[in-house]
Amino acid sequence: MKIGFIQLNPKFGEIENNVEKAISYIENANADLIVLPELFNTGYLFLNFKEALELAEKVPDGYTTKKLIDIAKKTRTFIVAGIAELYENKVYNSAVIVGPNGYIGTYRKAHLFYKEKEIFTPGNTGFKVFDIGEAKIGVIICFDWCFPEAARILALKGADIICHPANLVLPYAQKVMLARSIENRVYTITANRIGTESRGGMTLNFTGMSQITSPKMELLVQASKDKEEVDVINVDISLARNKWITKLNHVFKDRRIDLYAELI
Ligand code: ACM
Repeated sequence: MKIGFIQLNPKFGEIENNVEKAISYIENANADLIVLPELFNTGYLFLNFKEALELAEKVPDGYTTKKLIDIAKKTRTFIVAGIAELYENKVYNSAVIVGPNGYIGTYRKAHLFYKEKEIFTPGNTGFKVFDIGEAKIGVIICFDWCFPEAARILALKGADIICHPANLVLPYAQKVMLARSIENRVYTITANRIGTESRGGMTLNFTGMSQITSPKMELLVQASKDKEEVDVINVDISLARNKWITKLNHVFKDRRIDLYAELI
């Protein structure tokens, strides 16, 4: 199965340009599954809720999701893409999942990062797994990396690949996702953005280095820190269905849930 990411430098507020650029990359990617960054169509640094409300779109009937569905049908690609979702006068930091047969589902970011708490409503979808035929996929968004429970739930529900749209500003997630891969024996695809946003007296530098990790904790590919790029690689999904880390150790069956009550 050919899986990959598109590392982008979206321009704040320029939805049509950002979507057109992503579509031209998808058109040439020749992938079965491709992941785009968090908020790839709007940019990241909303100054206030009103600004987010103006740029957010309904799912699946909004402009961006419709455009993604068109290109997914044309190229027969499954796409996971981060957008600001408008729902009942609330804005969620969401990812839409679309494919050759149209709209598949939405994940709403559960763990909001820093000032996102002033803009977005915390996600209420839980951690869902989508069967796309060749693989089962789950989605987490950016700062969700800091909560291993999210990836664990997805893996327990059968996800072979954890798709991870991101706008990373801290230097940790690329390393952490290697751990999420080995402890759950799954592939992970982190699609990060690059560039800088300066708005309202705040400047954020996004770290690039989008990557794909394997169920054996290999860094299969990693992008640059500062260039837009598309990377697609061939992976063997059956590897993610073998949860034995030694002949005698199974990463799910060996869990001691009788000792984990404090977790909740
Ligand atoms: C982040 O969650 N966008 C850092």
